[in-house]
Amino acid sequence: MPSKKPRSLWSAPPHTLAKLAILRNYLNAYFAILGRTTNHTREILYVDGFAGPNEYLDHPRGSPTEAMNAAASAIRAAGTNWRAKGVACVFIDREHWIVEHCRRKLSELPPHDRMRFEVLEGRFDEVLPSLIARYPSHFEDDAPLFVFADPFGATGVPFSSVQKILGAERSELFLNFDSDGLIRILKAQAAGNADENLTSIFGNEAWRGVLTAEGDPLKLARSALELFKERLRSIRSVKYVFAFEMQKHEGIPDYHLVFASKHPLGLEKMKEAMRAIARDQGGFTFCDASARIGSLFRFDRPEDWAETVHSQFTGKTVSAPQVWDFVLNETLLVNAKGVLERLEKEKFVTIARKPGAGKRRDLHLMETITFKPGKYLAPSAPKEGLFDGS
Ligand SMILES: C[S@@+](CC[C@H](N)C(=O)[O-])C[C@H]1O[C@@H](n2cnc3c(N)ncnc32)[C@H](O)[C@@H]1O
Repeated sequence: MPSKKPRSLWSAPPHTLAKLAILRNYLNAYFAILGRTTNHTREILYVDGFAGPNEYLDHPRGSPTEAMNAAASAIRAAGTNWRAKGVACVFIDREHWIVEHCRRKLSELPPHDRMRFEVLEGRFDEVLPSLIARYPSHFEDDAPLFVFADPFGATGVPFSSVQKILGAERSELFLNFDSDGLIRILKAQAAGNADENLTSIFGNEAWRGVLTAEGDPLKLARSALELFKERLRSIRSVKYVFAFEMQKHEGIPDYHLVFASKHPLGLEKMKEAMRAIARDQGGFTFCDASARIGSLFRFDRPEDWAETVHSQFTGKTVSAPQVWDFVLNETLLVNAKGVLERLEKEKFVTIARKPGAGKRRDLHLMETITFKPGKYLAPSAPKEGLFDGS
């Protein structure tokens, strides 16, 4: 990471390129879906709160151009099926030279009559209230809003800003949660202004007792993340929260990319975006070091998750969406179909389907799922660990 106040362009390490690829993959799907389903009177608002210069020493594009390109290609691909009024993009950075550089790079893009952008100079949390005032239909009504927040360090996004964003009806947040920075603040105690900063990050004092200055950094980072996810889920209707761990070296946390949405399709598409880049590294941990040492974690095998899903609901009859939501939030799978197929064949679940559904396991065709009481035991050989170690 460059210094917190860089004076010139910096390079993009592999995990930065991976982050850009996840954003690009996701936004391709996001604009394509929202563009076709949003009322023609509504714009889609895209906010990049920590825009950066939009260029790296060794890479031609930053997150602003990725977003603009994704929107432009979604509009082009939708053709006459595009319904939304357009896409408004707001890019924010606190550094004057970075704002200028970003603006210059964006002005090189071809103009588009359904898109507009502006680059604002200021601190994200200080600029946010003016956006709320200027875009009331996005923050107070149902116009779509997507916020990407990618600060340096752990303190750029107070939880009060997160609440303002996710309080909106149709909003999503993709946040770089700097676990490494957070642990450094915690360990520095008074010198890191720990109390004030952590209370601002989590929005209350729930971190006390959960996070202590002692302990293994990876474990601490994961506890901090779990607490943060819990805080996100405490916001009304935020039902889908998922994180992708970026490690500097194996076992050393760097940051987590956290996604929060109110719609299952959002998380489904984000997992697909993450999965596309994780495929070679394996699993939802991207680690620069593991990119060199090979794959550690499989992520798309339903058999790895049968026990987790069964033990969550053992002995219960639950609605299909409950199982779907659990699988989306708590496993690496994109949907519950594969796990249910396995559990049903092994007679660990009984599925009540809607008339005419046959044996299909699509969400809308299932009513309830009854999980056999007791412990799930895979009928085949001893279950392989999640880490395949190869
Ligand atoms: C990690 S870089 C952004 C990289 C960019 N998102 C990308 O993917 O290409 C973080 C940027 O946030 C800016 N920044 C740091 N703190 C900020 C704050 N509180 N408000 C707005 N911008 C901030 C920095 O000047 C820097 O340009």
